[in-house]
Amino acid sequence: MRELSLNILDIAQNSVRAEAKNIEIALLEDENGWLTFRITDNGKGMDAETVRRVSDPFYTTRTTRRVGLGLPFLRMGAEMTGGSFSIRSKPREEGEGHGTVVTAVFNMKHIDAVPLGDMVSTVCVLLQGQPDIDWLFIHSTPAGEVRLDAAELRSILGEEVSLGETEVINWIRDYLDEQYSSLNP
Ligand SMILES: Nc1ncnc2c1ncn2[C@@H]1O[C@H](COP(=O)(O)OP(=O)(O)OP(=O)(O)O)[C@@H](O)[C@H]1O
Ligand SMILES: [Mg+2]
Repeated sequence: MRELSLNILDIAQNSVRAEAKNIEIALLEDENGWLTFRITDNGKGMDAETVRRVSDPFYTTRTTRRVGLGLPFLRMGAEMTGGSFSIRSKPREEGEGHGTVVTAVFNMKHIDAVPLGDMVSTVCVLLQGQPDIDWLFIHSTPAGEVRLDAAELRSILGEEVSLGETEVINWIRDYLDEQYSSLNP
């Protein structure tokens, strides 16, 4: 993938497909150029066998089941920079606390690192497509933090306004753009 944000979009869409009600997208950047990206959902989760299969593209070639490339691509992208990748998941059948956490660490200073890309558009696309999910987006950098809490926004706007409405999305875009531009001193 040419931009990390497209990868993030794909992983977040996995959480949507897993019927998650809460999805947190967290980006943490440190002053040395390491970027940790973590998506946490409370969707239906996966059993241990599926977790093994989806993170290893070579393993999947032995099965007839179609397995996508979102997770293997993310893993490859992270590992190519000297970073790491992990998935933790608990299937719904096992009861409370089910869901999935995907974590990838990138060395953004590595020659093979791709740029982060347009996170504001990524967040807007996700919100517009799934306005009823409680999205939490946090991008923490040494220069400050960008944050959007869909549940909080919904409680301010009232239940009759959908977060997917064009005016609301435009407002969210401006709100995020403003936060990003106030990061750079
Ligand atoms: N957050 C999640 N919760 C539950 N299952 C997941 C989650 N993420 C991935 N999976 C399972 O892992 C599989 C592989 O995911 P991956 O993103 O690699 O490919 P895909 O979504 O199937 O296809 P593609 O991303 O190429 O369109 C999914 O089909 C799904 O079964
Ligand atoms: Mg996918």
